[in-house]
Amino acid sequence: MFCKTESEVKLMQQAALLVSQTLVEVAKMLKPGVSTLQIDALCNQFIRDNKAVPSFYQYRGYPHNICASVNDVVVHGFPNDIPLQQGDVVSIDIGVILQGWHGDHAYTFIIGDTSAEILQLVKVTKESLYLGIEKAFVNNRVGDISFAIQDYVERKHRYGVVRELVGHGLGKELHEDPQVPNYGKRGAGPKLRENLILAIEPMITLGSREIYTDEDGWTVRTRDGKVAVHFEHDICVKRNKALILSDYSIIEAAEKANPHLNSAYY
Ligand code: MF3
Ligand code: CO
Repeated sequence: MFCKTESEVKLMQQAALLVSQTLVEVAKMLKPGVSTLQIDALCNQFIRDNKAVPSFYQYRGYPHNICASVNDVVVHGFPNDIPLQQGDVVSIDIGVILQGWHGDHAYTFIIGDTSAEILQLVKVTKESLYLGIEKAFVNNRVGDISFAIQDYVERKHRYGVVRELVGHGLGKELHEDPQVPNYGKRGAGPKLRENLILAIEPMITLGSREIYTDEDGWTVRTRDGKVAVHFEHDICVKRNKALILSDYSIIEAAEKANPHLNSAYY
């Protein structure tokens, strides 16, 4: 578990913000008919134009630059040439290495009209991420973050929290200690220290939390075929309140400005 110096935190903030800016570009181009491979190509170009590299490419053999997880795909979906359609729920997860430091965050978009049920799922997943972040301060424990997410999602809203995949420390490596599950007990797990950087990423299902991995070895889907949602922020643990390194405000502004995207939930 590596805590960062102030200057390293600044560099990691730049990496996280480059991911946010890439997600803004995604928010601008999403519409029915666009394919996730087109999004992948644009992200690759944008990241390289900004003197960084996409970190997912060839990470443990991952064959694309980004993850694009549509509808029943929970995470790690391969970009493909299928045109996006009205009603699709699309999680775009992007990682970059900028000046040797990782940024890794994700946002879920809705293309056009959808049901009130899906809007609520997206809203609750995003809210659960912020409830987890609220617990990410010095001397709290990882379990305080985990419990906050699980309690809100499962007890309050009766959605599923995926167990097999977790958030993580972030730094020179994409995945550092500690693991940050989206379920757990208050007061349990490693103690949070100042300038520990975490990627917190609830993966929440409308139905059962059971998942399986496709033949391709990556694509994680819900067993029941129902929709899953994924949001991810990079945060820095501080004394009283976490510093959020990534930035949803610019993504949300682009989302609102795009008539093909549904942002009715916030
Ligand atoms: N946000 C995901 C994670 O932390 C992205 C990894 S995709 C991979 O696991 F391809 F790089 F594995
Ligand atoms: Co991650």
